[in-house]
Amino acid sequence: MVTTAFHQAIEEGLTASSKYISSQFFYDDQGSRIFQDIMRMPEYYPTSCEFEILSFQALQIINKLDFSEPFNIVELGAGDGIKTLQLLRKLTELGAYFHYVPIDISAEAIQALEENMARELPSLSIKSLVGDYFTQMEVLAQSDIPCLFLFLGGNIGNYEAPQVDDLLSQFYEQMKPGDKLLTGFDLQKNPITIRRAYDDSQGITKAFNINLLHRINREMGGMFLPDQFDFYCDYNPKNGEVRSYLVSLKSQDVYIEDLERSFHFDQNELIWTELSRKYTFAEIEQLARKNGFRVVNHFLDCKHYFTDSLWVK
Ligand code: AVI
Repeated sequence: MVTTAFHQAIEEGLTASSKYISSQFFYDDQGSRIFQDIMRMPEYYPTSCEFEILSFQALQIINKLDFSEPFNIVELGAGDGIKTLQLLRKLTELGAYFHYVPIDISAEAIQALEENMARELPSLSIKSLVGDYFTQMEVLAQSDIPCLFLFLGGNIGNYEAPQVDDLLSQFYEQMKPGDKLLTGFDLQKNPITIRRAYDDSQGITKAFNINLLHRINREMGGMFLPDQFDFYCDYNPKNGEVRSYLVSLKSQDVYIEDLERSFHFDQNELIWTELSRKYTFAEIEQLARKNGFRVVNHFLDCKHYFTDSLWVK
């Protein structure tokens, strides 16, 4: 039996006094498919808002880059690249000389992205990198070519405050003066709109969370009965945090074969699974300043639900 980071995280998270499983473990193949379904839900507005920004404001974004050519567009955690395609298409139409450099930890995701781009934008110069962001950014930092880094999708909202600073300072370290960073932030808004995006009526977000238990069963011989757990999420408009949980519906002990032990769950005990933080402009600007960046511009969708915020080092 191979002990993976997932094994270690489950052992640690399920023995903590307040149980938790990190949202980074949502994305196995099945979880990634469910996430695609989430992004297609009408209630889950961040995807369509960011799509709108990158489609209709591509030219404005490009005009703010102020780069000599050629330049790189480096996407951190590229996924399927559908939203980025809009920006890349506009640049290509304008005859800009650039390379698209998607970075993703999953070789499978990169291959799908390359096939997609070859179909949609055959003239695109694409130089994919498989691996973690920082190692690959270090490689790019060695060249003189100016870079626009993309960290889209509101992923930054899934990090706790100290981890956000950690992440941004690591990005900063690997960037050259003049390089830009375009980050997607979900904005604070009517709390009902936010709650609906996570507590959807079809139960897709519930399935996304329950898949964690299926994943433990599949990958480490867990004996979870997923029907014995429910999903709960809560948006606190006072601090902008959506917190998601699994809820044990009864008092139960669950054995996990690879960990050679059982874990006890009280009735109604919570397992915290995710933070999805919503930001104000003041918070975004403070975050930029604190980590050494200058805000160039906030690009917004027409409802002002989401921003892609452009920063320069
Ligand atoms: C990937 N991340 C930005 C999503 C979010 O909104 O926090 C993940 C997600 N969780 C539930 N719905 C979507």
